[in-house]
Amino acid sequence: KNYNIALLPGDGIGPEVISVAKNVLNLAGSIEGIEFKFNEKLVGGAALDAVGVPLPEDTLTAVKQSDAILFGAIGGDATDTNQRHADIGIALLQLREGLKVFANLRPVSVLPQLVDASTLKKEVIEGVDLMVIRELTGGIYFGKPKGFGTNENGEEIGFNTEVYAAYEIDRIARIAFETARKRRGKLCSVDKANVLEASMLWRKRVMAIAEEYPDVELSHMYVDNAAMQLVRNPKQFDTIVTNNIFGDILSDQASMLTGSLGMLPSASLSESGPGLFEPIHGSAPDIAGQDKANPLATILSAAMLLKYGLGEVKAAERIELAVLDTLNRGFRTGDIWSAGNLLLNKLEITHEPNQY
Ligand code: NAI
Ligand code: MG
Repeated sequence: KNYNIALLPGDGIGPEVISVAKNVLNLAGSIEGIEFKFNEKLVGGAALDAVGVPLPEDTLTAVKQSDAILFGAIGGDATDTNQRHADIGIALLQLREGLKVFANLRPVSVLPQLVDASTLKKEVIEGVDLMVIRELTGGIYFGKPKGFGTNENGEEIGFNTEVYAAYEIDRIARIAFETARKRRGKLCSVDKANVLEASMLWRKRVMAIAEEYPDVELSHMYVDNAAMQLVRNPKQFDTIVTNNIFGDILSDQASMLTGSLGMLPSASLSESGPGLFEPIHGSAPDIAGQDKANPLATILSAAMLLKYGLGEVKAAERIELAVLDTLNRGFRTGDIWSAGNLLLNKLEITHEPNQY
């Protein structure tokens, strides 16, 4: 099989981690009889410098024509002005908007090999394996009316609108049920239905869609409780689905359960077009160009690209196994080093490198 992959390395450590993930994709593909054609394009600061805009037309056209997109990171460094930072950051928003990726999937798993790398309590984080699914194109970040004005007392106000249409909830709910079905069959929908009308509709629609998925166990949780439960007992969660703003906060919160930003992948999916796959970390200017970047977040994003973007589940699982095996054999980048040091002393190497 043949696939067209758009590669957007971007800035800082982006090109470093993308080049590694590209090699991994080629290797997994060659074993599974898959051939990739890579189309590398400019984005972020790299594009701004070369052609004056952070997301060139040429890049947007190429990503729309691809089967899936692998994105590194964008961002300036300490020497850049605030204006340049803002100009670069626009690229990712324009890209998400242009691709209409409404579903953001962020798996968070604490690998047994890395339990010691976290500063959190071992008994709380050991065995955590959850997925946060965030609605990405609706809700209060986009709702109208929004703006500034004056209230009846002549006081200055700022306002936004939390609004969801039924179809927006239905489509993210379906993605969530499908995802939960492929995982451990448990879905927790997070809302604030005791206060917000948009959340009442959210809960009503999620319950309606649930009838199509009798095999998935559905529960509901208010967002304030969910934030508390994520810290108290994160192991209770399998798949979480929530709106744009709650998902923004809860997914960042959940990501800290693992030791490092350098481990966490993400997928952003649309209704029918190509998906966008990227590590959740930024361009890490503090370590760029020093061969210190952890490439695993991007390698795991490539595995998500295979699984969720192309339906190539076997090749995806090969990559996931290879990551575990690499960690088992004691290899570590600096961000997860404390665990590596401990394990190097404890572990016997039992895996042959060529078995995956
Ligand atoms: P960051 O994620 O780039 O870095 C935060 C810290 O984590 C740094 O100390 C960095 O060295 C470390 N780190 C991140 N990824 C790592 C990896 N793979 N291996 C080892 N260590 C890693 O976030 P920061 O510093 O707040 O932002 C830097 C730039 O990145 C900014 O311009 C920001 O706007 C941009 N950014 C871009 C994102 C994207 O492209 N999706 C997301 C977040 C930030
Ligand atoms: Mg965020």
